[in-house]
Amino acid sequence: MTAGRAFVMGHPIAHSRSPMLHGYWLERYRIAGSYQPIDVAPEDLAGFFANFREAGWVGGNVTVPHKLAVIEYLDRIDEAAAALGAVNTIWWQDGALVGGNTDCTGFLGNLDELAPGWDRAGGRAVILGAGGAARAAAYGLRQRGLSVALCNRTAERAEDIARHFGGMSGHGMDALPGLLAEADLLVNTTSLGMLGKPPLEIDLAPLKPGAVVHDVVYVPLETGLLKAARARGHRTVDGLGMLLHQAVDGFRHWFGTTPEVTAELRALLIDDIRA
Ligand code: ATR
Repeated sequence: MTAGRAFVMGHPIAHSRSPMLHGYWLERYRIAGSYQPIDVAPEDLAGFFANFREAGWVGGNVTVPHKLAVIEYLDRIDEAAAALGAVNTIWWQDGALVGGNTDCTGFLGNLDELAPGWDRAGGRAVILGAGGAARAAAYGLRQRGLSVALCNRTAERAEDIARHFGGMSGHGMDALPGLLAEADLLVNTTSLGMLGKPPLEIDLAPLKPGAVVHDVVYVPLETGLLKAARARGHRTVDGLGMLLHQAVDGFRHWFGTTPEVTAELRALLIDDIRA
């Protein structure tokens, strides 16, 4: 018996690591379902959803460039997807097709796993960047009661996010040293430091002692930022766990089992990244 077919849909899709991790969980929990990558060009999106029920999909993940465009084909979206303006997970609920966003729970789940106690009350976070990952981080950190400051090369983009969510501040990079002195958590959400991109060049000297440093970049796993932070005695959190933890809710919705982020799964992905 087949327990259901799930997908990850994007354009292009060849480089997605999601099939590897959902495939691991399907095997681990002996679920006779499937999870397959599907390349859907923007002009084929309407056709994909027109045939959704007949195709027998239990749901799936949505990635670039469809995270916003899928919303019009869904019956409703959850609070996180509405706040972030992006859907990354689709599932059925009581006959309705629902879209959610799990980036934020993935982000928080990773920090909880690798830096327990990081969110002690009254903490201050500094987020570098102002793209989709910065939004998810800002939304999640505010939910946990931290005060949030966003710093970005283009200050207006950081200010826009701060205004959108309210109760946080947006800045240009010139504000960074002053913000670091008060920060309990520093998060890089820019693509700087990623393989093939320029390095992230910031001075960590002003950073408050004891602050946790988190890079959402996970290729390479050990970014220059994390190396520099560790050399200064800070606890560090790499970005791989965000990919793993954001997948948990989708798997639970589609296959009815809450999967565990195991050391074995982490090792599997690390091997793939290093290959
Ligand atoms: P995503 O949605 O994946 O988070 P994005 O929207 O492409 O990514 O945003 C990338 C982030 O990296 C932005 O904050 C960008 O800064 P700008 O808003 O000023 O473009 C930042 N970034 C990318 N390249 C950069 C560089 N060379 N120097 C500084 N910031 C950079």
